[in-house]
Amino acid sequence: MPAPHTIADSPSDWWNHAVIYQIYPRSFADGDGDGVGDIPGIISRLPEIADLGVDAIWLSPFYTSPQKDAGYDVADYCDVDPIFGTLSDAELLIDTAHQLGLRIIVDVVPNHSSDQHLWFHQALATGPGSPERARYMFREGKGAAGELPPNNWESVFGGPAWTRISEADGSPGQWYLHLFDASQPDFDWKNPEVWELFRNVLRFWLDRGVDGFRVDVAHGLIKEEGLPDQEIVVNPPIGNRGPFWDQDGVHAVYQDWRKILESYGPDRMMCAEAWVMPLSKMAHYVRNDEMHQAFNFGYLATDFDAQSLKAIINESLEAFGGVGSPSTWVLSNHDVVRHASRFGTAFMAGGHPTGIGPLSPQKPDAAVGLRKARAASAVMLALPGSAYLYQGEELGLPEVIDIPDDDRQDPTFFRTHGERYGRDGCRVPLPWDAAAPAYGFNTTGETWLPQPTVFGELARSNQIGREGSTLELYRSLLELRAGENLGEGTLHWQEGWADHVVAFTNGRITVIANTGESPVELPPGDVVVTTSPLEAGQLPGHTTVWVRND
Ligand code: NOJ
Repeated sequence: MPAPHTIADSPSDWWNHAVIYQIYPRSFADGDGDGVGDIPGIISRLPEIADLGVDAIWLSPFYTSPQKDAGYDVADYCDVDPIFGTLSDAELLIDTAHQLGLRIIVDVVPNHSSDQHLWFHQALATGPGSPERARYMFREGKGAAGELPPNNWESVFGGPAWTRISEADGSPGQWYLHLFDASQPDFDWKNPEVWELFRNVLRFWLDRGVDGFRVDVAHGLIKEEGLPDQEIVVNPPIGNRGPFWDQDGVHAVYQDWRKILESYGPDRMMCAEAWVMPLSKMAHYVRNDEMHQAFNFGYLATDFDAQSLKAIINESLEAFGGVGSPSTWVLSNHDVVRHASRFGTAFMAGGHPTGIGPLSPQKPDAAVGLRKARAASAVMLALPGSAYLYQGEELGLPEVIDIPDDDRQDPTFFRTHGERYGRDGCRVPLPWDAAAPAYGFNTTGETWLPQPTVFGELARSNQIGREGSTLELYRSLLELRAGENLGEGTLHWQEGWADHVVAFTNGRITVIANTGESPVELPPGDVVVTTSPLEAGQLPGHTTVWVRND
């Protein structure tokens, strides 16, 4: 059992070395049995997360929303959607987390609102040129009768990034920009009212005691002057720069927000979701007057391969160290194929962001994927800095492939007419108890996405206390990481190992990861963790050990 800790004991820059567990509210635990997870469900299961040994939780959005993009389409930033509970439930969750020693980060979605936000209703009701329309990106269409979109921008979810409205008198009208679903109109961040809206949103949640924010699409708020056409690239590399990504103007927003956070004390933080490469560019978001962290998507998109891992770890330490910040590390989240499945397919750069389904050319090899995933997690959790975990990875959950088309909910699936499966496969409700309805997700057996039978085998109840289970592996790694202060440590590469080996020390711990097939000799010291059993005293393929030298 990890040593109990309280948030009062943690340093004011707690995030720099923290392990932060992402809760996806729709799929974590369902208190009212309607099939969609909710805040009372989260509260009831929070002791299990504290027991895992993490320092903080981050929650994906639970705000008022028509759920066209699973809550990333916000209709009211300062209230809780009834499917998730009430504002009092959210306040109780913040208190409960703090009592359990967990910091709590909430999501803020500043690039776009829902089309059900009051401001968007007002924008539609008033005419072109109104101050209400100026809060969003409305433009006249091209062509003789404005029948063509203002430019060629494509939505991240597929299809055009512009939708034409009907004006109040029924005539075809202006077009509005939506980098994501048509139900997610982009704000115009040149408008001071938008700045003020979000200052108030931050204050609203800071007043309720949250410790920080994860900032959605942090690199998308400012669009290039004149909205020039984008260069269309098939399968763009991650961090592709275009006229709507990573414009220099975004940084002023976070400099403004930083001042608000600091007015609440030194222990409030922000983490950027900014798919910007190279990492030296991403690091601009964590300069000391902006964000405190950015998700290291370069690391997420790296294969379990020694040379690639060493290169990305060096690049990360250099890029973030260059702006005086520890790096973050992450392998899974609610937008990418779970790493237990990703590592079971031939490597695809970018981490299969578009999902895997029944007709995908590659089917993950579950055993290989899980073995490599456990080895990869053991590398990540030994690195200095901060690590993000995604709910269910501690159970070794795979991506769910066989979701029937009729059950799929990701707008990506609909907007590409099924060509891209999207992200439902990593969002299936969690299994807590093998013997209970919906594997303990609730008591009614309802689930918004179907759970596969393998979730029963991998349920928490089947793993807790079972030596060698993925859950016990994570608990051991987290306990040792905390006990050995690895988050605050320094990485020293160990030379002289074969090309397929990652070898480094951090304090008393030596980490040896065999990313290849042929076995490797162990270094001297006590093996305190191994992700797969040793074979004849050697480290077999796709296995990581932590060895301690006192
Ligand atoms: C990134 C979020 O993580 C993703 O789930 C969402 O669909 C988009 N931003 C749009 O808000």
